[in-house]
Amino acid sequence: MSEHPTFGEFVLGLEGLAILRSWMTDPATVKARSKMIAEIVRQLEKPPWSNAIEGMERTTITGYAEWATTYDNSSSPPILAEQPIVRSLITNHPVGKALDAACGTGRHAEYLASLGHRVTGIDATSEMLEVAKAKVPGAKFELAELDSIPLPDDAIDLAVCSLSLTHCPNLIPPITELSRVIRPGGTLIISDVHPFLIMLGAHADYQLGQTTTRFVRNHAHQVSAYLSAFQEAGLNIVQCIEPLYGDQEISAGNLGRQIEDLHLDGLMEVAEKGIPIVIIWELQKGA
Ligand SMILES: C[S@@+](CC[C@H](N)C(=O)[O-])C[C@H]1O[C@@H](n2cnc3c(N)ncnc32)[C@H](O)[C@@H]1O
Repeated sequence: MSEHPTFGEFVLGLEGLAILRSWMTDPATVKARSKMIAEIVRQLEKPPWSNAIEGMERTTITGYAEWATTYDNSSSPPILAEQPIVRSLITNHPVGKALDAACGTGRHAEYLASLGHRVTGIDATSEMLEVAKAKVPGAKFELAELDSIPLPDDAIDLAVCSLSLTHCPNLIPPITELSRVIRPGGTLIISDVHPFLIMLGAHADYQLGQTTTRFVRNHAHQVSAYLSAFQEAGLNIVQCIEPLYGDQEISAGNLGRQIEDLHLDGLMEVAEKGIPIVIIWELQKGA
């Protein structure tokens, strides 16, 4: 047996989650999933169950530096869930000066620029910024941290900060800084990995080659932590949206796809479907 966690052990975890989500309300599913666990345990020493998942942790900067060239090719369930919603929120606002904060490879910067916004992007990882610069030549990009944005006060009409605050241990410094650079009455759109999902063990994982999995740690920010940070930064909530894991997000995940291929009697449906995947906030800076 590998010293690293294995694919089989990951599936056992999902089977356990499926049991907990069916507990009390669906005894037949509890029994079916228990039987499946017994079957998997019998096969743990054989591939694909015995395949090791190394899962080495990287810091935010070293992780995204490694991930930069393949980031846009990875099919990420959180991106699938948030992109249409964030885009539709963006289009509700007039064209002006926009900031893509922690822009990564410039996914939202590209969309903002296509609508005619004058776009600035900042990110802490230079390798991600290199991809963004090539993708959105008309935008201005700078290497910077979220808690130290190189812009004057009140400079921005619309800021987007996507799938990045989860890497910050404390929400208050980046959210205060984002609010500082937005003009009074301006808008901040945040999307982030949902704290419920992170508490179930979700981190920002990526593949290096065929067999190596690495990850950057996600911090679970509870809704109360966002609310305190917004209040302290003078940001008013316009709306909060929490899309749930659906079929397309399940099929997009790396391990989810492998599990679907094994036809484990609807495991992903029972274990993951309906769990909140991202949390999206639309905020307005007070006058
Ligand atoms: C999951 S990627 C998201 C990129 C992009 N916003 C998107 O949604 O496609 C996270 C990005 O956040 C950046 N990041 C994380 N913590 C940061 C910080 N404190 N300051 C600036 N950038 C940060 C990383 O370098 C990485 O590019």
